[in-house]
Amino acid sequence: MQSRTTKLAIVGAGAVGSTMAYAALMRGAARTVALYDLNAAKVEAEVLDLQHGLEFMPQATVQGSDDISVCAGADVVVITAGAKQRPGQSRLDLADATIGVVRAVLPPLLEVAPDAIYLLVTNPVDVVTYAALQISGLPPRQVFGSGTVLDSSRLRQSVAQQCGVAVQNVHAYIAGEHGDSEIPLWSSATIGGVPLLDWQGLPGRGSLTAADREAIARDVVQSAYRVIAGKGATNYAIGLAGSRIVEAILGDEHRVLPVSTLIQGNEDLDGICLSVPALVDRRGCDVRIDVPLNDEERAGLRRSAEAMRETLQKVGL
Ligand code: LAC
Repeated sequence: MQSRTTKLAIVGAGAVGSTMAYAALMRGAARTVALYDLNAAKVEAEVLDLQHGLEFMPQATVQGSDDISVCAGADVVVITAGAKQRPGQSRLDLADATIGVVRAVLPPLLEVAPDAIYLLVTNPVDVVTYAALQISGLPPRQVFGSGTVLDSSRLRQSVAQQCGVAVQNVHAYIAGEHGDSEIPLWSSATIGGVPLLDWQGLPGRGSLTAADREAIARDVVQSAYRVIAGKGATNYAIGLAGSRIVEAILGDEHRVLPVSTLIQGNEDLDGICLSVPALVDRRGCDVRIDVPLNDEERAGLRRSAEAMRETLQKVGL
């Protein structure tokens, strides 16, 4: 049962941050939602607009300011502020600019919310999560990223649509980088409890051939680029995915989610942040689930780790 005094602070009142605030309020994720942004006029307008809808939402209060003290005492701090991905730009291209933002905002945040769980959403989220760990000095369980929770949702939606079943009946993960090198874990995926690779299809609907799976995986990687090309940013799905992770924390759900955490003890992936299924609860995230991987998936994760290491090197981390 969620305690009534839960406070969620969201840093950044742009498209992602304000949508996440809206999603968290609509889903009753936290009792208090605080929005922080350097742009006083923007954050005031976003908070006013949200407050005007409180009558239609589960009981909550909304506050906002360009003063970081509005995040004081937060149980969870979500960092969405950072450089915006332009059409055609990769997430890794944003690394330098975004790390600068996190380097500036983390120290004052730690002053006012030292015990909060820090959820990074800003891209490139795996690199930024790693940087936030270095800058904050907090234990890895307390700092992690939204990772491939959104990508896994895109994968599940595509499989559900193609197979004609409810998305809630598809259990499948995207792992690795939240970005171009991410990989689908087909070998552990299930549809209604049936291993996806053994799925024979509903009457009149085909099974998922290797070509279908490759097309779905490509579509997942391209999803954000398509949305950004059409409307300038993605916000609804990442806002909902972020709220989902916040609910797992504040609700102490022990929920398995593919969030981006510091990998330790795995010789191929050691010492970087990547997404693998992990347990999310009130303590944050400190237990990874050893989902079985086939050789292709293991190789894909190694490639993803390589891409992360190269970017970390480029930005001097
Ligand atoms: C996306 C952004 C959040 O994948 O990276 O939509």
